[in-house]
Amino acid sequence: MKLRAIRADITTLALDAIVNAANSSLLGGGGVDGAIHRAAGPELVAQCRLLGGCKTGEAKLTGGYRLPARHVIHTVGPVWRGGDAGEPELLASCYRNSLAIAARHGFAAVAFACISTGVFGYPAESAARVALAAVRAHAVDAALPGEVIFCCFGEADLRIYRDLLGADG
Ligand code: AR6
Repeated sequence: MKLRAIRADITTLALDAIVNAANSSLLGGGGVDGAIHRAAGPELVAQCRLLGGCKTGEAKLTGGYRLPARHVIHTVGPVWRGGDAGEPELLASCYRNSLAIAARHGFAAVAFACISTGVFGYPAESAARVALAAVRAHAVDAALPGEVIFCCFGEADLRIYRDLLGADG
């Protein structure tokens, strides 16, 4: 599996799927979720309404509508409560479940927003370590997706991922 970190607005990426940092209602919000809903248009929330929400750590698939990405995988990260409330396991499960959806649907390339690290307050470097470990664990026995992009909005996040990826990314 090819792993890359880039700095970009995730709504501009033309891939099989982008992964949204949603909330359990799946009805939109601020941050990357708001940006994705704005760019995708009202058909996205209409489809989300039919999904019955999403639990923390789980993921659900929709179309991409007016986005250049063909699909959106919506995952709900944990709210950071200090780290002893199961946050790392829940965050890992966001990445694992999103990748399982991507593999099941034959997606070759997906990009993740930095789940939980904005409004939900998860420390960026700890979150990046969890993300990377979960993605690498998925790649051990899955051929798809063949490419995973960590889409960083800020320079500081990009530096964290580039350092962790080393020669890989
Ligand atoms: N492209 C890529 N990354 C972005 C973009 C963008 N256009 N906009 C923000 N980010 P957050 P969370 C980054 O707060 O912490 C929403 O209201 C941002 O810099 O979007 O999981 C939901 O509805 C940060 O690195 O998600 C939930 O209620 C990362 O995306 C709640 O926020 C995640 O920040 C979820 O909080």
